[in-house]
Amino acid sequence: MTGRDDGRGRPRAERGWGVWLGWREIEESGENGGEMLVLLNSGYEELSREAARIVAGAVKSKPSVTLGLATGSTTLGMYSELVRLHREQGLDFSRVVTFNLDEYLGLAAEHPQSFHCFMQENFFAHVNVAAGNIHIPEGTIGGDYEEYCAAYERAIREAGGIDLQILGIGRNGHIGFNEPTSSFGSRTRLKVLTNDTIEDNRKFFGAGEEMPQCAITMGIGTILEARKILLLATGEAKAETVAEAIEGPITASVTASCLQLHPDVTFVIDEAAGARLKQRDYYRRVMEMTARFTPNRLL
Ligand code: F6R
Repeated sequence: MTGRDDGRGRPRAERGWGVWLGWREIEESGENGGEMLVLLNSGYEELSREAARIVAGAVKSKPSVTLGLATGSTTLGMYSELVRLHREQGLDFSRVVTFNLDEYLGLAAEHPQSFHCFMQENFFAHVNVAAGNIHIPEGTIGGDYEEYCAAYERAIREAGGIDLQILGIGRNGHIGFNEPTSSFGSRTRLKVLTNDTIEDNRKFFGAGEEMPQCAITMGIGTILEARKILLLATGEAKAETVAEAIEGPITASVTASCLQLHPDVTFVIDEAAGARLKQRDYYRRVMEMTARFTPNRLL
């Protein structure tokens, strides 16, 4: 790829906000006309099935799909449903390529709290993604972080870009480990974690165990280049930040609010996480009308 093509051999557009912020032009990234969808589900199980249904649909329609993957407790139900679809219905991941969003700096792949371990235990060990197609940032790189992160970005581009990016959301509105005040143009990089994030994740570590202070994470610019984005959120602890992300001002203080700028985002949330949304009834009507008039948008 050269600076003048988009990784798929097509000329990179030379104008517009997309280029300024580092993501593809709207007309290049989808055919849906730029609708943000909010799918309200009754609870966590339904949300997980819905998210897995969308991922499975992407895999079936493009067996060599490139998935951007997230870790975190929210995604567990989705992974377990995808494993079930693989076992019971033969959902085939053999040509799927994956890029994980992030990894704690300092944790080896074998560390039980590493995202490598999370992905292995909850997904990769149970499905047939080829080992060579799996990409997760290394937590133990020493030295030239910038070169390492640039190489991760290059690998994404060389794979043709991310077709479907899965996201969770932190209580402080982060996506990946793009903590508040992250640049909307940011790329994969070393990021210092906020105290909020460290405290939120302490429960996963042993008592007295030292918590990682930093992570390697894809940037907001990287995430916004995905062709389609799915954000999952569950529980009332996320209600405030979900409302800010969907209905609040676009601000680096709530990095998930950047998704309002993306032309193909679906929020898959449950009632509790959606409790602070002002336009809940409208989102329900949009879901009904979408199912009626543009059902492909829900695939
Ligand atoms: C994980 C990640 C994070 C989490 C977020 C929510 O790879 O990038 O942004 O998605 O912190 O985590 P949970 O689901 O544990 O609340």
